[in-house]
Amino acid sequence: MDGIKLVNVSKSYEVKNQQLKVLDGIDLNISANKMTIILGRSGCGKTTLLRLVSGIEEVEKGEVRGVRLKRKAYVFQEDRLMPWLDVKRNITFGLKKKQINHKKIDEIIEMVGLEKFCSAYPSQLSGGMKQRVSIARAFAYNPEFIMMDEPFSALDFFTREQMQKELIKIHQKTRCAILFVTHSIDEALILGDKIVILEKGRIKSCYEMNEKKQERDLLDQKFVALKKQIIDDLRII
Ligand SMILES: Nc1ncnc2c1ncn2[C@@H]1O[C@H](COP(=O)(O)OP(=O)(O)O)[C@@H](O)[C@H]1O
Ligand SMILES: [Mg+2]
Repeated sequence: MDGIKLVNVSKSYEVKNQQLKVLDGIDLNISANKMTIILGRSGCGKTTLLRLVSGIEEVEKGEVRGVRLKRKAYVFQEDRLMPWLDVKRNITFGLKKKQINHKKIDEIIEMVGLEKFCSAYPSQLSGGMKQRVSIARAFAYNPEFIMMDEPFSALDFFTREQMQKELIKIHQKTRCAILFVTHSIDEALILGDKIVILEKGRIKSCYEMNEKKQERDLLDQKFVALKKQIIDDLRII
């Protein structure tokens, strides 16, 4: 699969008769097979960027290349499960009957550790489990490209850590392109192949990460130094 390319993408919203510039001249390559992280403070334009890339919203200026014909999935910050459907039906929701490969769906359910909960309903699940269902649903679609908007931000520390590990594993198996939004520097350092720092609608800096994900130790000198650098990048002067 080819990657996705943003060329000089800008977006403004009209608020109380005034133009509010939310994204300003974004150039970005989203590589196939890789996890690209958008890291930034609340309100810097991360969700807007995802909405433009997904096509939920139209760009005002510039171009998003290479995304239109791709099979895409979107994982929202809050789980968007159907309360009246059980776990398996939530995961296959949106797929046509003939698209459902039960063996593959069962594999995905196992990958996210929900095999014992296939017939449970969302109200019977914890927050982490619901988010797992959302992630399984995205992967069940066999996507070439997944967009994830702070999918773990409502989870406690340990559940979050476990979900990050699971995501790394699933990604290494499926090798689709992922555009992952977070405001957590640690999460970016754990997951990213590339970390893009967004500040007030502009790309402030960008880091390529070549270290093997299973071997990353955030307490290692190199990561501590990078974290300091990123904190500096994010600091508003
Ligand atoms: N539909 C909209 N109408 C007006 N302003 C919006 C709209 N969507 C987002 N914004 C504004 O754009 C800015 C960036 O929002 P958002 O992309 O959601 O940021 P983030 O996801 O980084 O927190 C915020 O100031 C927000 O209020
Ligand atoms: Mg957001």
